[in-house]
Amino acid sequence: MFETLKALNADPILGLMAEFRNDPREQKIDLGVGIYRDQKGNTPIMKSVAEAERKRIETEITKAYIGPAGSESFNLLTRELTLGEDHPAIKDNRLASVQTPGGCGALRVGAELIKRTNPTCTIWVSEPTWANHIPLLGNTGLKIREYPYYSPKNQSLRRKEMLDVLQKVPANDIVLLHGCCHNPCGVDLGLEDWKEIADLAEKQGFIPFVDLAYQGLGLGLAEDAAGLRFLAAQTSEMIIATSYSKNFGLYRERVGALQIIAENAQTAQITQAQLGSTVRGIYSMPPAHGAAIVELILGDTTLYKSWDTELSAMRNRINNLRESLSNHLSKETDQDFTFIKKQRGMFSFLGINETEINELKKDFGVYMVDSSRINVAGINDSNLEHFIESLARVIKS
Ligand code: LMR
Repeated sequence: MFETLKALNADPILGLMAEFRNDPREQKIDLGVGIYRDQKGNTPIMKSVAEAERKRIETEITKAYIGPAGSESFNLLTRELTLGEDHPAIKDNRLASVQTPGGCGALRVGAELIKRTNPTCTIWVSEPTWANHIPLLGNTGLKIREYPYYSPKNQSLRRKEMLDVLQKVPANDIVLLHGCCHNPCGVDLGLEDWKEIADLAEKQGFIPFVDLAYQGLGLGLAEDAAGLRFLAAQTSEMIIATSYSKNFGLYRERVGALQIIAENAQTAQITQAQLGSTVRGIYSMPPAHGAAIVELILGDTTLYKSWDTELSAMRNRINNLRESLSNHLSKETDQDFTFIKKQRGMFSFLGINETEINELKKDFGVYMVDSSRINVAGINDSNLEHFIESLARVIKS
């Protein structure tokens, strides 16, 4: 049977990770996979996370099943972190939520739920979007279409073209939006854009699906959620997928959440049961450990404060790197790279071509995704010079 399976190309991001690992060169630089790195190039466990984990181990009294929705307290704390404590959707009991294995789990469960209620709808994704959005959502069998988003020429939002397409999206289709720190382009929607999209969602009747994978790594915890909070206050229905991989550094523990805002409390209750049954039919229930750590931190004033301080330091490091890269690259090449400091989150496109990307990898050990997406956090004082010199040489040749 299995002999009929076809050989596959490597995953564009995970394949690069493996290639990098096997490269013996000392000076190699990994700007590929989106993980936060500190000044030494490491991805350490956050101190607040280590502290919460210690507490968890000391106080955990059972390993009995957790149930398809995961921890109720985790889900409630996630609502508040995402939407803010006083959000009308919370007060009106219009939310259904489940703890999921990472943001990927949330995206997939969201898509499966959409399929249950509206199997013929289309999910509209930004062009470009994170490569894994397509299989996560599309492997359910739902149709995927793109709306214009990023202009490589101006390194900015194609606002008019985006709105032109969104204003034709039919009722009950889904529009996937990046909550902040757009992956892969780093260009975020401004509050004016979110308002415009909220109006269109209301007018057209499409449902926004917000992927929030980097809350706190752009401008701040509340600032990064401002657009989706506005949208959630305006629209009657909405879907939110949260990942805690990056802002808690819990990548391999797989911690995320899916929240559905329904039109009223009664529909939210039915949706909650449907979510539980969807989860039961895929992986039965989520893993408990990572989410318990997040729950301890979000629910404890002291731990929350130290987590917030660590997160701010990570954010500031990324934003300082953006400033520094933008200045150095603009000075030491004959191209304008100032767009890097205007963008947010871990990623930006350098805008170089495939030959240049391959040359950087082959001749200089500089790895980036083949769209020219770099993970800004992969830069540090020890590799900045090698990166700038390599790029300058490749661009000039
Ligand atoms: C990325 O975009 O590099 C990250 O979200 C990691 C992944 O799973 O692709």
